Amino acid sequence: MEFQISELVISVLVVSGIATFLAVLMVIADATIGNYGSMELTINKDRKLTVEGGGTLLNTLKEAGIFIPSACGGRGSCGLCKCKVTEGGGDHLPTELTFISKDEQKLGIRLSCQLKVKRNMSLEIPEELFNVKEYKAKVSSIKDLTHDIKEVRLELLEPREINFIAGQFVQIQVPEYELSSESVYRAYSVSSSPSMKNAVELEIRYVPNGICTTYVHKHLKVGEILTITGPYGEFYLRDTDAEIICVAGGSGMAPIKSILHHMAEKGINRKAAYIFGAQGKRDLFLLDEMKEFETKLPDFRFIPALSNLAPGEEWTGETGKVTEVLARVLTDGSNTEAYLCGSPGMIDATVAILKSKGVKEDKIYYDKF
Ligand SMILES: Cc1cc2nc3c(=O)[nH]c(=O)nc-3n(C[C@H](O)[C@H](O)[C@H](O)COP(=O)(O)OP(=O)(O)OC[C@H]3O[C@@H](n4cnc5c(N)ncnc54)[C@H](O)[C@@H]3O)c2cc1C
Ligand code: FES
Repeated sequence: MEFQISELVISVLVVSGIATFLAVLMVIADATIGNYGSMELTINKDRKLTVEGGGTLLNTLKEAGIFIPSACGGRGSCGLCKCKVTEGGGDHLPTELTFISKDEQKLGIRLSCQLKVKRNMSLEIPEELFNVKEYKAKVSSIKDLTHDIKEVRLELLEPREINFIAGQFVQIQVPEYELSSESVYRAYSVSSSPSMKNAVELEIRYVPNGICTTYVHKHLKVGEILTITGPYGEFYLRDTDAEIICVAGGSGMAPIKSILHHMAEKGINRKAAYIFGAQGKRDLFLLDEMKEFETKLPDFRFIPALSNLAPGEEWTGETGKVTEVLARVLTDGSNTEAYLCGSPGMIDATVAILKSKGVKEDKIYYDKF
C-alpha cells in the first residue's frame, strides 16, 4: 500500500514537471519565434524604412504612413492591396493566389495584407500612393438619397484639404461596435467634385449585416469624427478626345457624378452618354442634378433606365437592364471610352456588350463593387 502511494506521488510530480517544462517552452517560443526584431524595407530602390518585423506588410506600411488600398480591411477578399515585392517576400501563400495571376506571381506581385514582414524586403510602390494621407473628418450631413442609399458629407479637419482626381475613392474607418470586434476600413468613391477640397461626399448603399454600411445607416451621427484615408484608384477620366459612355447602377453613381462635375467645371465638351440603371422608381436619385449636366455639357445625354417596374408604376424613360439599353444606344464603339461602376455581374455583362460594339478592351475602365 505504502509502495502504491509513493508511486502515485512520483507520477503526479513527473506530470506536473512535464507540464511546467512545456509551459516555459511555450513562453520562450512566443517571445522568440513571434519576435522578428527590426527589419529594413527598401522602397523604390532609394527609400529605406526600419520597421518592427512580424506584422503584415499592409499594416507595417500603414504604421509608417504609407497607405495601400484595402477595401476588405485585410481579410484577403478584395484583392486591392497588391504590392510588388522584388526581394525578401518568399513564396506566395495559398491565400494570395485567388487574386494574383501566374504572370503577376513572376513579377513579385503580392497581397500585402497576407504577406508578413519576416525578412528585409525590397518593394516597388506607385508614386501616387505617397499622396495618400490619413484625415480626421467630421460628419457634416447625412441625407437619404433612396430607401437604401445615404449621402454622407465629411468635412476635413486635419489635414484640411484633399487633392484627388474625379472617380477616385477614399477609405473610411468604422470603429469597433456590436457587429465587429475590431475597427475596419471600407472603400467609397467620392461623389463630389475635386474642386471642393475641404470636404468629400460619399453615396453609401446599405448591405444587410454589412459592417460598415450598417454602422453608417444605423449608428453614424452628424458631428461624429471619422478617420479616412485616400485618395486611391485608377478609375478616372482619361484626357483624350474619344466619345464617353458611362454605365452605373445604384451607388455606382458616385464616381460618375464626380467625373461629370469635373467635366462641367472644366468645360470638357466631349460627346458623352450616361446610362444609369435602377430597378424601380424608388431606386432613382439625383435625377434633376444629372439632367442639369445636359444643359452644362451640350453633347451629354443622361439616360436613366428601370429594369423592374412595379405593376402600375408610370415611367416614360428607358426600360430594361443597362446592358439592353447600352446595346440600343451604342451603335459604333470604335472611338469610345467606357467608364463602368456597379456590381461585378453588371460590369462583366456590360464589358461583353461594349466589346461586341467595337470598344477596345484597354479603353474600358471600371470599379466593381
Ligand atoms: C473601389 C471601391 C469603391 C467603392 N465605392 C462604393 C460606393 O461609392 N458606395 C458603396 O455603397 N459601396 C462602395 N464600395 C463597396 C464598399 O467598399 C463595401 O464593400 C460595401 O459598402 C459593403 O461593406 P460592409 O462593411 O457594409 O459589408 P461587409 O461587412 O464587408 O460584408 C458583409 C456581407 O455582405 C456581402 N457584401 C459585401 N458587399 C456587398 C455588396 N456590395 N452587395 C451585396 N453583398 C455584399 C459580403 O460578401 C458579406 O457577406 C466600393 C468598393 C470598392 C472596392
Ligand atoms: S486588403 Fe483586401 S485583399 Fe488585402
